[in-house]
Amino acid sequence: MRFQSVFFLFIVVFISIFHSCSYRNDEAEIRIGFSQAMIADEWRQSMNNAMELQASLYPNVTLSISNADYNVENQIKQLKEFIAADVDIIIVSPIQSKPITPIVEEAMKAGIPVLVVDRKTDNQKYTAYVGADNIEVGRNAAKIIVSNLPDSLKVVEIRGLAGSSPAEERSLGFHQILDKFPSIEFMGTIQGDWEKESITGGFKELLQEIGPVDYVFVHNDRMALGAWEVARNLGIEDQIKIIGVDGLNGPNGGIQLVKEGVLNATILYPTGGDEAIKTALKILNDEIVPVNNILSTTVIDRFNAEIMQNQLNKINEQQTLLESQVTAVKRQKELYYSQNNILKIILGFSFIILGLAVYSIYSKIAIAKKNRQLELTNRKITVQRNQIEKIANEVKESNEARMNFFTGLSHEFKTPITLIMSSIESLRDWQRQKGFKTGFEVELIQNNSNRLLRLINNLLDFRKVEDQKFNVRASKTNIFKFSNNIFSEFKVEARKRGIKFNITSNNEDLELFIDRNLMDKVYFNLLSNAFKFTPDNGRIDIEILDNLAGSLVTIHFKDNGIGIPENELEFVFTPFFKGSNNRKNSSGVGLHLSKQFVELHLGKIEVKSHHGTEFIITLFKGDTHFNEDQIVVDPELVDTTLINFSDGIGLEEGSVGLEGQNREEQHSILLIEDNRDLTFFLNNKLGSEYEMLISDGTDGLAMAYEHIPDVILCDVNLPDKSGFEICQILKSDLRTSHIPIILLTALSNKESFIKGLECGADLYLTKPFNYSILTQSIKSLLYNREKLRYYYTNNIHKIDQVHSFGDPEQLFVRQLNQQIKTNLDNTNFSVENLADALNISRVQLYRKVKAMLGISVSDYISNYRLEKAKSMLESTNYSISEIGYATGFSSPNYFSTAFKGKFGVTPGAYKKSL
Ligand code: FRU
Repeated sequence: MRFQSVFFLFIVVFISIFHSCSYRNDEAEIRIGFSQAMIADEWRQSMNNAMELQASLYPNVTLSISNADYNVENQIKQLKEFIAADVDIIIVSPIQSKPITPIVEEAMKAGIPVLVVDRKTDNQKYTAYVGADNIEVGRNAAKIIVSNLPDSLKVVEIRGLAGSSPAEERSLGFHQILDKFPSIEFMGTIQGDWEKESITGGFKELLQEIGPVDYVFVHNDRMALGAWEVARNLGIEDQIKIIGVDGLNGPNGGIQLVKEGVLNATILYPTGGDEAIKTALKILNDEIVPVNNILSTTVIDRFNAEIMQNQLNKINEQQTLLESQVTAVKRQKELYYSQNNILKIILGFSFIILGLAVYSIYSKIAIAKKNRQLELTNRKITVQRNQIEKIANEVKESNEARMNFFTGLSHEFKTPITLIMSSIESLRDWQRQKGFKTGFEVELIQNNSNRLLRLINNLLDFRKVEDQKFNVRASKTNIFKFSNNIFSEFKVEARKRGIKFNITSNNEDLELFIDRNLMDKVYFNLLSNAFKFTPDNGRIDIEILDNLAGSLVTIHFKDNGIGIPENELEFVFTPFFKGSNNRKNSSGVGLHLSKQFVELHLGKIEVKSHHGTEFIITLFKGDTHFNEDQIVVDPELVDTTLINFSDGIGLEEGSVGLEGQNREEQHSILLIEDNRDLTFFLNNKLGSEYEMLISDGTDGLAMAYEHIPDVILCDVNLPDKSGFEICQILKSDLRTSHIPIILLTALSNKESFIKGLECGADLYLTKPFNYSILTQSIKSLLYNREKLRYYYTNNIHKIDQVHSFGDPEQLFVRQLNQQIKTNLDNTNFSVENLADALNISRVQLYRKVKAMLGISVSDYISNYRLEKAKSMLESTNYSISEIGYATGFSSPNYFSTAFKGKFGVTPGAYKKSL
């Protein structure tokens, strides 16, 4: 706050500096209003110039000149304006005395001093007068004339504007002298208006009438020139002496006219412009100023015209000099003021910069202080946040751990359930084969196992929904048939409990795009609920209503059970909801999951309760509401959890699958599984058909390398290495890469499935897997291996020519062939040498080649050699023995025997047959 006021002070100082920047005088401004009678003639212009020059010497003086232009009305108006503007002083050169007198009085009354110049008003009610004495002017003119006496002289007077004081006074002075001399004959007066045009006519007439005169006194030089012109026109100019007034210096001025002999003389009548300004300023300065300030006048004739002109020229020059100096001074002053202003601005800005610098230092210190405080607070907050984060993480971790525990546990449940279900399945099959009736206990175990499995699946789905891991895989489905299938599963229970259970549809052909797996769970949840809460002999209906014209379908599940209290309806779909009237065990996730699954279909599920409960599912028809990747053309119903176990093949314990099959020719299966029950179960079931090798996971890899089995069944969750890791290692090892691997796991999510594929697993079965699917899968993998074997054995020496398709087995065969090819003529080249070259043991090589190619290594080498020999017989001219040695046979005889053994003909006979 303190600094804010300091800053405010800075601003005030700055503004005042700026304020002082304007160009101004310390003295008060003086406004002078001058009403000039007219400005057409040079005398007036000279007067104005003199005034302006004088005024310019005073920077505080503003002179405004108004031109009345010979118009008395104009002049009155101008004077009134000056009064209204309250100028400091009025200067006036009245056109005529009388009309201007009252307005001058008015100004005086208004307190504005009035300075009368050149011409006067009628009375002396003005502050002062500046001008020459016009009576004296007239007298001077008369004196020139009378100086020529005693000759009798004829004289004419040409007067200025009647009513103007100079005209009156000049005439007065003139006659005062002239009239004293009776010898002077006054021939008449011509009345002019100061301009020559006003007198030429009258003067001409007079001269024509009276003839030449001796002297003509003309009130000013302009009219005097006009008079001369008239005389010249009459040819009498030399006989007439003309005396003018004004005596201006300049080309048409009176002095020049005197010099040229046009005028006999001129009476100097000074304009008094400079004097007028000086006097005005004196008045305003309250100096004592005489009322009449008379300017001196003089006669200019041919004797002094030259001197006068010189003097006046000098004065003019000085005036010009003065003017230029005044201009220079003015410029200097302007420069001074502008520089002064710039200096002040710079000073002002420096002041501000200084202020800002001080302020910024202050701010910096203040900010640093605040920052320190903030840092401290921040640190505190960070510590608190870290604590909160730690607690949150702990909570999250413990939650996660709990969830993982439950998920893991749920997965763990799956293996025993698999066992229970598979055992039950076997038991039923055995009973069926023996012709026994399945006992109700067996059915009970089976139903409850199913129920248990569903509950576990619900629990796992709940986790999956929470992690948003579900992706819809919708396929075209006849919704009536689909519903009817599930309906059938509940029919037995309905019958047992006397429940009227019906399914109806207004369009049994209706096809919808649904994710069958998800929708199956929705149906099971809704129907399980309905059966749970419907009393014996009650009623449950499934009704599919196709809104035929519209785009929606509704599926109704209606029961007449205990219903749901009205005020609880809105919470039905929230997780862990349990109705207040529900006395049964319930996880509370079924309806929540159902809602999530329906919403994954962009549908909705609603509940009504009135004399029972009704759930209504609304789904869209068509597939446009799904993304492309959500639609599947051929739905995989391989979710083993949904497949009816009663479909399983179920072999009797210890029974032999393929009767009479030679143990030697049996395929071997390595089972890597740490669950002893499952191991026992599978060993028992598969042992009849396959040679079983068992590992609990600790020696899985070692056993695989040792035995090179035909198929590996491997659990994912193992104590040592995971199934994924084992699979990865075996698939990237040349010795075992050819072995089909089936991963058995309780992890059914997509990521695990992908992980399984990534590590090279040939099949991925989730627990509880269907036993028949497992056996079928083993068979088809072995069949595929057989096809591959057929391919390899029939393309032995072509493998290295065809393009690689990136298969490790193909690579193996190529390496094998390469070694044999390199040692083709080496009769000592043995299986041991080959195994060494391939960096595997002799037994492993034997088993791998046997597994892949179906023959022993030595047979394979021999076959390779014979095939090569055959193609050499076909394409070269080498002898039989040469070809035999070249293909690694130690003698021609041995070659011949071996060749005949394989191709049925001797090499010689074969060659001939070509
Ligand atoms: C100029 C003028 C002068 C004369 C004066 C009298 O306008 O006519 O020639 O001397 O006025 O006021």
